[in-house]
Amino acid sequence: MTVLITGGAGFIGQHLARRLVADGHSVLALDTLLGQVHVDPQASVAAFPGPVIVGDVADASAWTDLPQVNAVVHLAAETGTGQSMYEVERYHRVNVEGTARAGAFAADRGIPLVALSSRAVYGEGRHGCLIHGVAFGAPCCAHTAPEASREADPHHPVSVYGETKSEGEAALGPVGAAVPVTIIRPQNVIGPGQALHNPYTGVLAAFLAMLKEGKPLTLYGAGTQTRDFLHVEDLAALIAWALATPPQPGRPRVLNAGSGVRTTLLELARYAAAGAPVPTYGITHLDIHRAGDIDHACADLTLVRAVGAPLPRWTTADAVADFVAASWDKTGAPASAWDGALGELRERGLTS
Ligand code: UD1
Repeated sequence: MTVLITGGAGFIGQHLARRLVADGHSVLALDTLLGQVHVDPQASVAAFPGPVIVGDVADASAWTDLPQVNAVVHLAAETGTGQSMYEVERYHRVNVEGTARAGAFAADRGIPLVALSSRAVYGEGRHGCLIHGVAFGAPCCAHTAPEASREADPHHPVSVYGETKSEGEAALGPVGAAVPVTIIRPQNVIGPGQALHNPYTGVLAAFLAMLKEGKPLTLYGAGTQTRDFLHVEDLAALIAWALATPPQPGRPRVLNAGSGVRTTLLELARYAAAGAPVPTYGITHLDIHRAGDIDHACADLTLVRAVGAPLPRWTTADAVADFVAASWDKTGAPASAWDGALGELRERGLTS
């Protein structure tokens, strides 16, 4: 089949496209080639194993006159949690309107849609409590511990980014009645090809820049925050499965995408340092909290397992090592760019 991948020239899209082509499919990308992500847009186009149509998913005109395709994977999105807190309109336009347009396109053409949402819809997510049972969104009292989020859990986004992802999912409601729709909620996706120039997202890219410059790794807070790091190849395998195994129209499916393993940022720093081919210079703790940042995230994979979707194969340590080894010789933004992004948040009163 021929698959249209919005945001196809980006990190996840390039991996997915190669995976689909290896499986015998054809791919086509619709991508803005945004400067914040694509420092060399021509190289991104050249790397994509199919035609790249330059267009903005939020523009109605980008969706007219597209060639015939058999399925859509909607990846195009604005992804910086911190940046979303002040670029509200831009995030809303791309992540909500763009998703609604992707859904309308799939419904018009009568073809399946796989749309990437985010675990950000859960916000602080599920907490188990000795006294109150289960709490969502925020710990109810001091006796809670974070638990892995399940697909049926309520949405409690704490960032504009998370809100736009939640609204984007809602915009697909009517589409799911007409054509097969799978919504995937990835955790923190890492791997070779991850943006190294975009200081608004991606703690691991920040760590790489610091390691290369022989600087200590900066942790915002104690480093006890947790994330679930998923290797991009594992995400590509899940999306490929979702395309090959569409749900019934009228029964839209939501699936988590994660490793199912909770990793503290301190552990992440250790894995990154272990993968670096130079001595490292420790850790600096910055007493700062970015508005919109959550403390804990981890995916519950019970449903993924139950529907027979592929489970992640990469361990977190190996995924981090793979990213560091593949990215070490690539040019990226200097470590100071991440300080700059933090400064932008500080100036706007979005840190505490
Ligand atoms: C990330 C994704 C987002 C995805 C979401 C799902 C990126 C770029 N963003 O957001 O698209 O939907 O996960 O969970 O991958 N931090 C430091 N030091 C630094 C930089 C960051 O301690 O130098 C901390 C942050 O405060 C935060 C954590 O690292 O606690 C992760 O931040 P970040 O990588 O920007 O991603 P998320 O906000 O988790």
